[in-house]
Amino acid sequence: MNSQQDFLRDAMRRLNLTRDAFSDRLGVRRRALDTWLLPADSGEARSMPEMVEKFVSEILAHEAHEARDTGAGPGRAPAAKPLAQRIAAEGRPHLLSVSQFDRGSLEELFQVADLMQPIARRQKVSRVLEGAVLGSLFFEASTRTRVSFGAAFCRLGGTVCDTTGFTFSSMAKGESIYDTSRVMAGYVDALVVRHPEQGAVAEFARATNIPVINAGDGPGEHPSQAILDLYTIQREFSRLGKLVDGTHVAMVGDLKYGRTVHSLIRLLSLYKGLKFSLVAPPSLEMPPYLLELVARNGHVIEQTASLEEGLRGADVVYATRIQKERFVGEAIEGYTPEFQVRKSLVDALCKPDTILMHPLPRDGRPGANDLSTDLNHDPRLAIFRQTDNGIPVRMALFAVLMGVENQVARSMRDAGWRSPSHVGPDDAVFDGLD
Ligand code: ASP
Ligand code: CP
Repeated sequence: MNSQQDFLRDAMRRLNLTRDAFSDRLGVRRRALDTWLLPADSGEARSMPEMVEKFVSEILAHEAHEARDTGAGPGRAPAAKPLAQRIAAEGRPHLLSVSQFDRGSLEELFQVADLMQPIARRQKVSRVLEGAVLGSLFFEASTRTRVSFGAAFCRLGGTVCDTTGFTFSSMAKGESIYDTSRVMAGYVDALVVRHPEQGAVAEFARATNIPVINAGDGPGEHPSQAILDLYTIQREFSRLGKLVDGTHVAMVGDLKYGRTVHSLIRLLSLYKGLKFSLVAPPSLEMPPYLLELVARNGHVIEQTASLEEGLRGADVVYATRIQKERFVGEAIEGYTPEFQVRKSLVDALCKPDTILMHPLPRDGRPGANDLSTDLNHDPRLAIFRQTDNGIPVRMALFAVLMGVENQVARSMRDAGWRSPSHVGPDDAVFDGLD
Protein backbone atom coordinates (compact mmCIF):
# COMPACT_ATOMS: atom_id res chain seq x y z
CA MET A 1 0.00 0.00 0.00
CA ASN A 2 1.26 3.47 -0.87
CA SER A 3 2.06 5.74 2.08
CA GLN A 4 0.12 8.97 2.59
CA GLN A 5 3.25 10.89 1.66
CA ASP A 6 3.71 8.99 -1.63
CA PHE A 7 0.01 9.31 -2.41
CA LEU A 8 0.13 13.10 -2.07
CA ARG A 9 3.46 13.47 -3.83
CA ASP A 10 2.22 11.38 -6.74
CA ALA A 11 -1.00 13.39 -6.90
CA MET A 12 0.95 16.67 -7.12
CA ARG A 13 3.16 15.21 -9.82
CA ARG A 14 0.25 13.94 -11.86
CA LEU A 15 -1.63 17.20 -11.52
CA ASN A 16 1.59 19.17 -12.12
CA LEU A 17 0.91 21.36 -9.08
CA THR A 18 3.31 22.92 -6.59
CA ARG A 19 2.57 22.54 -2.86
CA ASP A 20 1.06 26.04 -2.80
CA ALA A 21 -1.17 25.38 -5.79
CA PHE A 22 -2.16 21.94 -4.48
CA SER A 23 -3.13 23.24 -1.03
CA ASP A 24 -5.17 25.97 -2.75
CA ARG A 25 -6.94 23.37 -4.87
CA LEU A 26 -7.72 21.29 -1.78
CA GLY A 27 -8.79 24.37 0.16
CA VAL A 28 -6.37 23.61 3.02
CA ARG A 29 -3.52 25.57 4.56
CA ARG A 30 -0.08 24.98 3.05
CA ARG A 31 1.23 24.24 6.56
CA ALA A 32 -1.31 21.41 6.95
CA LEU A 33 -0.24 19.89 3.64
CA ASP A 34 3.38 20.09 4.75
CA THR A 35 2.65 18.10 7.90
CA TRP A 36 0.84 15.41 5.87
CA LEU A 37 3.91 15.15 3.64
CA LEU A 38 6.33 14.63 6.52
CA PRO A 39 7.80 11.13 7.00
CA ALA A 40 5.53 9.07 9.26
CA ASP A 41 8.27 8.75 11.90
CA SER A 42 8.73 12.54 12.20
CA GLY A 43 7.34 14.09 15.39
CA GLU A 44 5.42 16.75 13.43
CA ALA A 45 3.81 14.35 10.93
CA ARG A 46 0.00 14.33 10.84
CA SER A 47 -2.51 12.03 9.16
CA MET A 48 -4.57 13.72 6.49
CA PRO A 49 -8.32 13.61 7.14
CA GLU A 50 -10.17 10.84 5.30
CA MET A 51 -12.23 13.51 3.52
CA VAL A 52 -9.08 15.01 1.99
CA GLU A 53 -7.91 11.61 0.78
CA LYS A 54 -11.30 11.03 -0.84
CA PHE A 55 -11.21 14.47 -2.44
CA VAL A 56 -7.71 13.94 -3.87
CA SER A 57 -8.76 10.54 -5.26
CA GLU A 58 -11.80 12.16 -6.88
CA ILE A 59 -9.66 14.90 -8.48
CA LEU A 60 -7.27 12.26 -9.86
CA ALA A 61 -10.12 10.12 -11.19
CA HIS A 62 -11.65 13.21 -12.83
CA GLU A 63 -8.32 14.18 -14.46
CA ALA A 64 -7.79 10.65 -15.74
CA HIS A 65 -11.32 10.66 -17.16
CA GLU A 66 -10.71 14.01 -18.92
CA ALA A 67 -7.42 12.76 -20.32
CA ARG A 68 -9.14 9.65 -21.64
CA ASP A 69 -11.81 11.73 -23.32
CA THR A 70 -9.52 14.35 -24.80
CA GLY A 71 -6.32 12.34 -25.17
CA ALA A 72 -4.52 15.24 -23.48
CA GLY A 73 -3.97 16.94 -20.14
CA PRO A 74 -1.76 16.19 -17.19
CA GLY A 75 -3.90 13.26 -16.01
CA ARG A 76 -3.25 9.78 -17.34
CA ALA A 77 -5.59 7.48 -19.13
CA PRO A 78 -5.54 3.95 -17.74
CA ALA A 79 -2.72 2.16 -19.48
CA ALA A 80 -3.76 -0.18 -22.25
CA LYS A 81 -0.53 -2.17 -22.10
CA PRO A 82 1.97 -2.85 -19.31
CA LEU A 83 4.63 -0.15 -18.98
CA ALA A 84 7.40 -2.56 -20.06
CA GLN A 85 5.68 -2.95 -23.43
CA ARG A 86 5.14 0.76 -23.87
CA ILE A 87 8.80 1.58 -23.27
CA ALA A 88 10.15 -1.47 -25.13
CA ALA A 89 13.20 -1.23 -27.38
CA GLU A 90 12.44 -2.96 -30.68
CA GLY A 91 9.69 -4.90 -28.94
CA ARG A 92 11.88 -6.16 -26.10
CA PRO A 93 12.01 -5.14 -22.42
CA HIS A 94 15.39 -3.41 -22.55
CA LEU A 95 16.49 0.00 -21.30
CA LEU A 96 18.99 1.35 -23.84
CA SER A 97 18.11 5.01 -24.21
CA VAL A 98 15.96 7.62 -22.49
CA SER A 99 14.29 8.14 -25.87
CA GLN A 100 12.14 5.11 -24.99
CA PHE A 101 10.21 7.30 -22.52
CA ASP A 102 7.59 9.97 -22.85
CA ARG A 103 6.43 12.13 -19.99
CA GLY A 104 3.57 9.83 -19.02
CA SER A 105 5.65 6.64 -18.92
CA LEU A 106 8.32 8.42 -16.87
CA GLU A 107 5.78 9.56 -14.31
CA GLU A 108 4.46 6.01 -14.11
CA LEU A 109 7.94 4.71 -13.46
CA PHE A 110 8.38 7.32 -10.73
CA GLN A 111 5.18 6.09 -9.12
CA VAL A 112 6.72 2.61 -8.93
CA ALA A 113 9.93 4.16 -7.52
CA ASP A 114 7.88 5.91 -4.81
CA LEU A 115 6.38 2.55 -3.95
CA MET A 116 9.90 1.17 -3.48
CA GLN A 117 10.92 3.89 -0.99
CA PRO A 118 10.13 1.93 2.21
CA ILE A 119 12.26 -0.96 0.88
CA ALA A 120 15.06 1.40 -0.17
CA ARG A 121 14.89 2.98 3.30
CA ARG A 122 15.18 -0.52 4.81
CA GLN A 123 11.85 -0.35 6.63
CA LYS A 124 10.27 -3.06 4.48
CA VAL A 125 11.45 -6.12 2.59
CA SER A 126 10.09 -7.76 -0.53
CA ARG A 127 10.91 -10.96 -2.39
CA VAL A 128 9.13 -10.41 -5.71
CA LEU A 129 12.30 -11.35 -7.60
CA GLU A 130 13.06 -14.40 -5.45
CA GLY A 131 14.98 -16.96 -7.52
CA ALA A 132 15.92 -14.47 -10.25
CA VAL A 133 19.58 -13.88 -11.07
CA LEU A 134 21.06 -10.64 -12.39
CA GLY A 135 24.15 -10.70 -14.60
CA SER A 136 26.22 -7.58 -14.07
CA LEU A 137 28.84 -6.98 -16.76
CA PHE A 138 31.00 -3.90 -16.27
CA PHE A 139 33.78 -3.32 -18.77
CA GLU A 140 34.53 0.13 -17.31
CA ALA A 141 35.11 1.42 -13.79
CA SER A 142 32.03 1.91 -11.63
CA THR A 143 31.04 2.15 -7.98
CA ARG A 144 27.49 3.55 -7.87
CA THR A 145 25.89 2.03 -10.91
CA ARG A 146 27.29 -1.47 -10.45
CA VAL A 147 26.62 -1.66 -6.71
CA SER A 148 23.24 0.09 -6.73
CA PHE A 149 21.87 -2.07 -9.55
CA GLY A 150 23.10 -5.13 -7.63
CA ALA A 151 21.67 -3.90 -4.32
CA ALA A 152 18.35 -2.99 -5.98
CA PHE A 153 18.03 -6.50 -7.42
CA CYS A 154 18.94 -8.11 -4.08
CA ARG A 155 16.47 -5.92 -2.17
CA LEU A 156 13.73 -7.34 -4.38
CA GLY A 157 14.80 -10.85 -3.41
CA GLY A 158 17.09 -11.70 -6.36
CA THR A 159 20.80 -12.51 -6.47
CA VAL A 160 23.66 -11.17 -8.57
CA CYS A 161 26.49 -12.76 -10.59
CA ASP A 162 29.05 -10.37 -12.00
CA THR A 163 32.22 -9.95 -13.94
CA THR A 164 34.22 -6.74 -14.11
CA GLY A 165 36.75 -5.57 -16.69
CA PHE A 166 37.77 -7.21 -19.95
CA THR A 167 40.64 -9.09 -18.30
CA PHE A 168 38.34 -11.35 -16.31
CA SER A 169 35.86 -12.04 -19.10
CA SER A 170 36.41 -14.25 -22.12
CA MET A 171 36.13 -11.16 -24.30
CA ALA A 172 39.86 -10.98 -23.54
CA LYS A 173 40.09 -14.20 -25.60
CA GLY A 174 38.33 -12.57 -28.53
CA GLU A 175 34.72 -13.61 -27.79
CA SER A 176 32.16 -11.40 -29.52
CA ILE A 177 29.47 -9.32 -27.85
CA TYR A 178 26.80 -11.50 -29.49
CA ASP A 179 28.24 -14.76 -28.12
CA THR A 180 28.86 -13.29 -24.67
CA SER A 181 25.33 -11.94 -24.44
CA ARG A 182 23.65 -15.14 -25.65
CA VAL A 183 25.73 -17.27 -23.26
CA MET A 184 24.90 -15.00 -20.31
CA ALA A 185 21.20 -15.08 -21.20
CA GLY A 186 21.26 -18.82 -20.57
CA TYR A 187 22.51 -18.23 -17.03
CA VAL A 188 20.73 -15.12 -15.78
CA ASP A 189 17.34 -13.37 -15.97
CA ALA A 190 18.48 -9.80 -16.67
CA LEU A 191 21.70 -8.12 -17.72
CA VAL A 192 23.16 -4.77 -16.71
CA VAL A 193 26.03 -3.79 -19.00
CA ARG A 194 28.57 -0.95 -19.04
CA HIS A 195 30.92 -0.78 -22.03
CA PRO A 196 33.38 1.85 -23.32
CA GLU A 197 31.90 1.90 -26.86
CA GLN A 198 28.78 3.79 -27.83
CA GLY A 199 26.18 1.35 -29.16
CA ALA A 200 27.82 -1.74 -27.62
CA VAL A 201 25.05 -2.30 -25.06
CA ALA A 202 22.46 -2.21 -27.85
CA GLU A 203 24.48 -4.97 -29.49
CA PHE A 204 24.22 -7.03 -26.28
CA ALA A 205 20.48 -6.41 -26.33
CA ARG A 206 20.05 -7.62 -29.91
CA ALA A 207 21.45 -11.05 -28.93
CA THR A 208 18.87 -11.85 -26.25
CA ASN A 209 15.24 -11.64 -25.16
CA ILE A 210 16.02 -11.14 -21.44
CA PRO A 211 16.02 -7.49 -20.25
CA VAL A 212 19.28 -5.66 -20.92
CA ILE A 213 19.96 -2.34 -19.19
CA ASN A 214 22.48 0.18 -20.49
CA ALA A 215 24.63 1.19 -17.52
CA GLY A 216 26.68 3.55 -19.70
CA ASP A 217 27.92 3.01 -23.27
CA GLY A 218 31.02 5.14 -23.87
CA PRO A 219 30.07 8.75 -24.57
CA GLY A 220 26.57 7.62 -25.61
CA GLU A 221 23.96 7.41 -22.86
CA HIS A 222 23.49 6.55 -19.20
CA PRO A 223 19.70 6.29 -19.07
CA SER A 224 19.20 4.99 -15.53
CA GLN A 225 21.39 7.83 -14.20
CA ALA A 226 19.33 10.46 -16.00
CA ILE A 227 16.09 8.89 -14.78
CA LEU A 228 17.28 8.99 -11.17
CA ASP A 229 18.53 12.55 -11.73
CA LEU A 230 15.10 13.66 -12.91
CA TYR A 231 13.45 11.75 -10.04
CA THR A 232 15.77 13.65 -7.68
CA ILE A 233 14.92 17.00 -9.27
CA GLN A 234 11.20 16.24 -8.91
CA ARG A 235 11.53 15.23 -5.25
CA GLU A 236 13.66 18.27 -4.42
CA PHE A 237 11.26 20.52 -6.31
CA SER A 238 8.30 19.01 -4.50
CA ARG A 239 9.93 20.03 -1.20
CA LEU A 240 10.78 23.48 -2.58
CA GLY A 241 7.40 24.12 -4.21
CA LYS A 242 8.72 24.23 -7.79
CA LEU A 243 7.83 22.53 -11.07
CA VAL A 244 10.14 21.12 -13.74
CA ASP A 245 8.22 23.03 -16.41
CA GLY A 246 9.82 26.45 -16.87
CA THR A 247 12.89 25.72 -14.78
CA HIS A 248 16.45 26.93 -15.42
CA VAL A 249 19.09 24.17 -15.51
CA ALA A 250 22.81 24.90 -15.72
CA MET A 251 24.93 21.99 -16.93
CA VAL A 252 28.62 22.44 -16.30
CA GLY A 253 31.74 20.67 -17.52
CA ASP A 254 32.43 17.95 -20.04
CA LEU A 255 29.25 18.18 -22.06
CA LYS A 256 30.89 16.55 -25.08
CA TYR A 257 31.72 13.16 -23.58
CA GLY A 258 29.51 13.22 -20.47
CA ARG A 259 26.88 10.56 -21.16
CA THR A 260 24.83 11.52 -18.10
CA VAL A 261 24.15 15.01 -19.45
CA HIS A 262 23.38 13.56 -22.90
CA SER A 263 20.62 11.45 -21.37
CA LEU A 264 19.44 14.08 -18.89
CA ILE A 265 19.01 16.91 -21.40
CA ARG A 266 16.86 14.60 -23.54
CA LEU A 267 14.66 13.69 -20.59
CA LEU A 268 14.29 17.28 -19.43
CA SER A 269 13.30 18.24 -22.97
CA LEU A 270 10.09 16.28 -22.46
CA TYR A 271 8.98 19.08 -20.12
CA LYS A 272 7.92 22.59 -21.14
CA GLY A 273 9.68 25.93 -21.43
CA LEU A 274 13.05 25.14 -19.87
CA LYS A 275 16.14 27.29 -20.05
CA PHE A 276 19.47 25.47 -20.33
CA SER A 277 22.76 27.20 -19.58
CA LEU A 278 25.47 24.97 -20.98
CA VAL A 279 28.83 25.88 -19.45
CA ALA A 280 31.81 24.10 -20.98
CA PRO A 281 35.38 24.72 -22.03
CA PRO A 282 35.34 25.42 -25.81
CA SER A 283 36.45 21.91 -26.83
CA LEU A 284 33.93 20.13 -24.59
CA GLU A 285 30.60 21.54 -25.75
CA MET A 286 27.34 19.59 -26.05
CA PRO A 287 27.06 17.66 -29.36
CA PRO A 288 25.07 19.60 -32.01
CA TYR A 289 22.47 16.81 -32.52
CA LEU A 290 21.39 17.21 -28.89
CA LEU A 291 21.28 21.01 -29.15
CA GLU A 292 19.01 20.66 -32.18
CA LEU A 293 16.71 18.21 -30.40
CA VAL A 294 16.38 20.49 -27.37
CA ALA A 295 15.78 23.58 -29.52
CA ARG A 296 13.18 21.71 -31.59
CA ASN A 297 11.25 21.09 -28.38
CA GLY A 298 11.05 24.84 -27.82
CA HIS A 299 13.56 25.28 -24.99
CA VAL A 300 16.02 28.12 -24.62
CA ILE A 301 19.71 27.20 -24.81
CA GLU A 302 22.57 29.46 -23.83
CA GLN A 303 26.08 28.18 -24.39
CA THR A 304 28.87 29.89 -22.53
CA ALA A 305 32.38 29.34 -21.24
CA SER A 306 31.67 31.62 -18.28
CA LEU A 307 30.60 29.81 -15.12
CA GLU A 308 29.39 33.10 -13.59
CA GLU A 309 27.09 33.68 -16.51
CA GLY A 310 25.73 30.12 -16.51
CA LEU A 311 25.11 29.83 -12.78
CA ARG A 312 23.29 33.12 -12.34
CA GLY A 313 19.69 32.42 -11.30
CA ALA A 314 19.82 28.67 -12.04
CA ASP A 315 17.34 26.41 -10.24
CA VAL A 316 19.50 23.34 -10.83
CA VAL A 317 23.26 23.26 -11.24
CA TYR A 318 24.42 19.93 -12.65
CA ALA A 319 28.22 19.69 -12.51
CA THR A 320 30.15 16.91 -14.24
CA ARG A 321 33.63 15.39 -14.25
CA ILE A 322 36.02 15.77 -17.17
CA GLN A 323 35.83 12.34 -18.87
CA LYS A 324 39.58 11.92 -19.18
CA GLU A 325 39.24 8.26 -20.18
CA ARG A 326 37.58 9.34 -23.46
CA PHE A 327 40.43 11.58 -24.60
CA VAL A 328 42.50 9.65 -27.10
CA GLY A 329 45.36 11.68 -28.52
CA GLU A 330 43.48 14.90 -27.71
CA ALA A 331 45.06 17.60 -25.61
CA ILE A 332 42.94 17.83 -22.45
CA GLU A 333 41.78 21.34 -22.03
CA GLY A 334 40.56 20.34 -18.63
CA TYR A 335 38.98 22.50 -16.03
CA THR A 336 40.86 25.59 -15.19
CA PRO A 337 39.88 26.84 -11.72
CA GLU A 338 37.31 29.16 -13.38
CA PHE A 339 35.16 26.09 -14.05
CA GLN A 340 35.02 24.92 -10.46
CA VAL A 341 31.58 25.07 -8.85
CA ARG A 342 32.51 26.27 -5.37
CA LYS A 343 30.76 27.79 -2.38
CA SER A 344 31.75 31.42 -2.92
CA LEU A 345 30.33 31.35 -6.46
CA VAL A 346 27.17 29.52 -5.47
CA ASP A 347 26.59 31.98 -2.63
CA ALA A 348 27.12 34.94 -4.94
CA LEU A 349 25.13 33.73 -7.97
CA CYS A 350 22.62 31.09 -6.94
CA LYS A 351 19.42 31.22 -4.92
CA PRO A 352 18.71 29.70 -1.49
CA ASP A 353 16.56 27.10 -3.24
CA THR A 354 18.99 26.18 -6.02
CA ILE A 355 19.93 22.51 -5.98
CA LEU A 356 23.45 21.32 -6.73
CA MET A 357 23.83 17.98 -8.45
CA HIS A 358 26.58 15.80 -9.93
CA PRO A 359 26.34 12.23 -11.24
CA LEU A 360 29.56 11.44 -9.34
CA PRO A 361 32.32 10.42 -8.96
CA ARG A 362 33.79 13.89 -8.46
CA ASP A 363 37.47 13.97 -9.24
CA GLY A 364 39.15 14.99 -6.01
CA ARG A 365 42.68 14.96 -7.32
CA PRO A 366 44.70 18.19 -7.19
CA GLY A 367 44.12 20.31 -10.28
CA ALA A 368 40.91 18.49 -11.28
CA ASN A 369 38.76 21.48 -10.22
CA ASP A 370 35.65 19.33 -10.06
CA LEU A 371 32.68 20.24 -7.81
CA SER A 372 34.26 21.64 -4.64
CA THR A 373 34.12 19.85 -1.28
CA ASP A 374 33.64 23.24 0.41
CA LEU A 375 29.93 22.78 -0.42
CA ASN A 376 29.72 19.51 1.53
CA HIS A 377 27.70 20.93 4.40
CA ASP A 378 25.53 23.17 2.23
CA PRO A 379 21.92 21.88 2.25
CA ARG A 380 21.63 22.81 -1.44
CA LEU A 381 24.09 20.03 -2.25
CA ALA A 382 21.84 17.17 -3.33
CA ILE A 383 24.51 14.72 -4.51
CA PHE A 384 23.96 12.09 -1.82
CA ARG A 385 20.18 12.36 -1.98
CA GLN A 386 20.76 11.80 -5.70
CA THR A 387 22.86 8.63 -5.16
CA ASP A 388 20.34 7.36 -2.59
CA ASN A 389 17.58 7.73 -5.18
CA GLY A 390 19.48 5.29 -7.40
CA ILE A 391 18.07 2.42 -5.35
CA PRO A 392 14.29 3.01 -5.64
CA VAL A 393 14.64 4.05 -9.28
CA ARG A 394 16.68 0.96 -10.22
CA MET A 395 14.31 -1.27 -8.25
CA ALA A 396 11.45 0.26 -10.22
CA LEU A 397 13.25 -0.41 -13.51
CA PHE A 398 13.74 -4.08 -12.63
CA ALA A 399 10.18 -4.46 -11.39
CA VAL A 400 8.77 -2.93 -14.58
CA LEU A 401 11.07 -4.71 -17.05
CA MET A 402 10.49 -8.04 -15.29
CA GLY A 403 6.74 -7.51 -14.95
CA VAL A 404 6.34 -7.64 -11.14
CA GLU A 405 5.50 -3.99 -10.42
CA ASN A 406 1.92 -4.87 -9.47
CA GLN A 407 3.06 -7.47 -6.92
CA VAL A 408 5.35 -5.18 -4.94
CA ALA A 409 2.81 -3.44 -2.68
CA ARG A 410 1.25 -6.64 -1.34
CA SER A 411 4.63 -8.39 -1.06
CA MET A 412 6.06 -6.04 1.56
CA ARG A 413 6.84 -7.18 5.08
CA ASP A 414 8.50 -5.29 7.92
CA ALA A 415 12.30 -5.45 7.92
CA GLY A 416 13.61 -7.62 10.73
CA TRP A 417 16.66 -5.52 11.50
CA ARG A 418 17.07 -1.96 12.61
CA SER A 419 18.93 0.66 10.58
CA PRO A 420 19.65 4.33 11.34
CA SER A 421 17.02 6.82 10.17
CA HIS A 422 19.75 8.64 8.20
CA VAL A 423 22.68 6.74 6.73
CA GLY A 424 25.07 9.72 6.50
CA PRO A 425 26.16 11.92 9.42
CA ASP A 426 25.39 15.09 7.44
CA ASP A 427 21.99 13.94 6.18
CA ALA A 428 19.14 16.19 7.13
CA VAL A 429 15.42 15.52 6.97
CA PHE A 430 14.62 17.03 3.61
CA ASP A 431 11.16 15.56 3.31
CA GLY A 432 10.24 17.72 6.26
CA LEU A 433 9.40 21.32 6.84
CA ASP A 434 11.89 23.95 5.74
N1 ASP B 1 29.64 7.91 -13.37
C1 ASP B 1 29.16 8.64 -14.50
C2 ASP B 1 29.34 7.83 -15.77
O1 ASP B 1 29.81 6.70 -15.68
C3 ASP B 1 29.80 10.00 -14.60
C4 ASP B 1 31.30 9.99 -14.60
O2 ASP B 1 31.92 8.93 -14.56
O3 ASP B 1 31.84 11.09 -14.62
O4 ASP B 1 29.01 8.30 -16.80
N1 CP C 1 27.23 7.91 -11.65
C1 CP C 1 27.89 6.79 -12.00
O1 CP C 1 27.61 6.18 -13.03
O2 CP C 1 28.82 6.37 -11.11
P1 CP C 1 29.79 5.13 -11.31
O3 CP C 1 30.65 5.44 -12.51
O4 CP C 1 30.57 5.03 -10.04
O5 CP C 1 28.94 3.92 -11.57
